[in-house]
Amino acid sequence: VITTGLAPVRLAADGQSVRIIDQRRLPEELVYRDLASADEVIDAIRTLAVRGAPAIGIAGAAGLAVAIRTFAHAHPDAVGAQVMETLSSIGARIAGARPTAVNLGWAVDRCLAAARGAAESASTIAAAVAAEARRILDEDLEMGAAIATHALAILPDHFCILTHCNTGSLATGGAGTALAPVYAAHAVGRSVTVFATETRPLLQGSRLTAWELHNAGIPVTVIPDGAAASLLRSGRVDAVLVGADRIAANGDVANKVGTYAIAIAARRHGVPFHVLAPRSTIDASTARGHMIEIELRARDELAQLGGRTLLADGIGVWNPAFDVTPASLVSAIITDGGVHRPPYDFGGSPR
Ligand code: MRU
Repeated sequence: VITTGLAPVRLAADGQSVRIIDQRRLPEELVYRDLASADEVIDAIRTLAVRGAPAIGIAGAAGLAVAIRTFAHAHPDAVGAQVMETLSSIGARIAGARPTAVNLGWAVDRCLAAARGAAESASTIAAAVAAEARRILDEDLEMGAAIATHALAILPDHFCILTHCNTGSLATGGAGTALAPVYAAHAVGRSVTVFATETRPLLQGSRLTAWELHNAGIPVTVIPDGAAASLLRSGRVDAVLVGADRIAANGDVANKVGTYAIAIAARRHGVPFHVLAPRSTIDASTARGHMIEIELRARDELAQLGGRTLLADGIGVWNPAFDVTPASLVSAIITDGGVHRPPYDFGGSPR
């Protein structure tokens, strides 16, 4: 299992809270927050205090565990059906915190299924949900390591990549997705360098990716999002490695807005464009990318910058958090199950 030492989201040992790194405060401050209710977890997910598809899945499951534990303590004699009803309604609220990353609903559904198998008393249901939330984290760490192994098999010995947004420790339980092979290669002494886009408007690239790579001793160069095409034309990049928030059954990929433009430029200049994600990011129930709901975020993310107002009242914005890259522009989808190439058959997807 790969580790940078960062633990972005963990269910506390006593099960009473979810400890997260508050990613809004990075890179200035590494601050942890303890979330003690479903509402606090939902708020942290919506405001991107915890973010990245696998990480919000882990946080959602842990938040559900905390909430149902609180309920079980307040209602020790509640019958199974009543506890399950409460669990489903909290689960639905958590799953609805952000719409695009499939991992969130997937993790909540796993906890509900585990609870159904234990539906006797409030305390046994709460214990089953907590155990499932811990399993989701453990599996995430293992999946990151497996993704790294499969990716390294198709990357050159020494490589330079371009990445977008943050797909490292902070976006997951700790092992990363698209950055997992970068950490794994560095750990065994292979030379690896990274170009990271800033990732406007919330700057996950410069605030988070550059921060965690630099701390790990991996050379990283930040570029404005608009420089990606010129960089790809320059021949300096061996491959583009990005993550995913939801992968449709046909291989279309929803990921951070701007991914699609990078994929077009990579194809134009003959640079391999790989998507790295755990199998929990594959949504077999969504046939094609245009069916994926794309989250639209607040006007202020574009209208305000560092305390300044950039846009006069009345100026419109369109602020989609994600875009869809068609499968035809993706060279390979690398999961913990292996390297998938078109036509895609993700047999064994957990969903
Ligand atoms: O809005 P964010 O920061 O949650 O978006 C995250 C991304 O788009 C990541 O690329 C994606 O979740 C894959 S992360 C392992």
